Amino acid sequence: MSFSDFQLIPDGASTLASKVDALYFFALAVSAFFSLLIAVLIFFFFVRYRRRIDGPQVGERIHGSTPLEIVWSAIPFVITMVMFVWGAMVYYEKSQVPADAEEFLATGKQWMWKFQHPEGHREINALHVPVGKRIRITMTSEDVIHSLFIPAFRIKQDVLPGRYTTLWFEATRPGTYHLFCAEYCGAEHSRMIGSVYVMEQDDYQDWLSGGRSGLTPAESGAALFTQHACDTCHKEQRTGRGPSLHGIAGQQVRLASGRTLTRDDAYLRQSIVHPGAELVAGYPLLMPTFQGQITEEGILHLIAYLKSLSAPAAEYSPPIPPEGAEQGPSSADPSEVNP
Ligand code: CUA
Repeated sequence: MSFSDFQLIPDGASTLASKVDALYFFALAVSAFFSLLIAVLIFFFFVRYRRRIDGPQVGERIHGSTPLEIVWSAIPFVITMVMFVWGAMVYYEKSQVPADAEEFLATGKQWMWKFQHPEGHREINALHVPVGKRIRITMTSEDVIHSLFIPAFRIKQDVLPGRYTTLWFEATRPGTYHLFCAEYCGAEHSRMIGSVYVMEQDDYQDWLSGGRSGLTPAESGAALFTQHACDTCHKEQRTGRGPSLHGIAGQQVRLASGRTLTRDDAYLRQSIVHPGAELVAGYPLLMPTFQGQITEEGILHLIAYLKSLSAPAAEYSPPIPPEGAEQGPSSADPSEVNP
């Protein structure tokens, strides 16, 4: 590495990069300005008010100045509020995953990153992505806490066991960029690194067709669903011993506890590893736990499969009785109760 390779900040290669940089340089400029101002004033005052042999040796009494105090409170207040609101806006944009983003999967594992494309391609410590496309990465860990960090995209997010976190980006410049684990995760943490390859969309299509795609996440999930005999209880129509799983992902559900919640990824995962935790109203706890029997990657595949299931042809509107209505195993609605 020669001196000409030295970079003060990493390449910027995502739509977010310039926004993060602008905020960063604003904060840096404000800090630099006030640091310099204070340094100059200190120097000025100790020359101006140095001890003199002929001058007065005791300082004058000062009783304060309201206008001065208002000014030195108001200016920092305005500056910090600008930083706060601006920072919150950039953070919000970083956190709000666009609805049309394509979903990639990532699993952290001591000590490697496993990625899977929506088309089924798998990669380890490498991620090929097309330029100009919004991409969302749903991440989890097989073991300890990791953190996926792609400096060129100005994104970093912890990857936690038993939880799903997401990152999204839109790459703006083809090239090869670093990818790091940014959370100390054991002896080979420093080697849990890789590369992101941003490609022109045509090149990306070539890359996809050149590789072996294997099963898509939803197809792998369908295979697991049959393999673990989930379909003996969860049938398409509501005739099984468990609730139908068709068209439920992202929908609201009424629980045996009387609460209503959204069947998001976290709920679906919990229902697989701790079936008793949030029981659907009208169904007794018959399902065994699958904790330890399915890998985290497998659970992500099952969730992808559930999301691919549309509601059966017969109208499916999950009935959510009004608050306070009696619900539970002794439901008044016979269709909700087991045969
Ligand atoms: Cu994984 Cu550090």
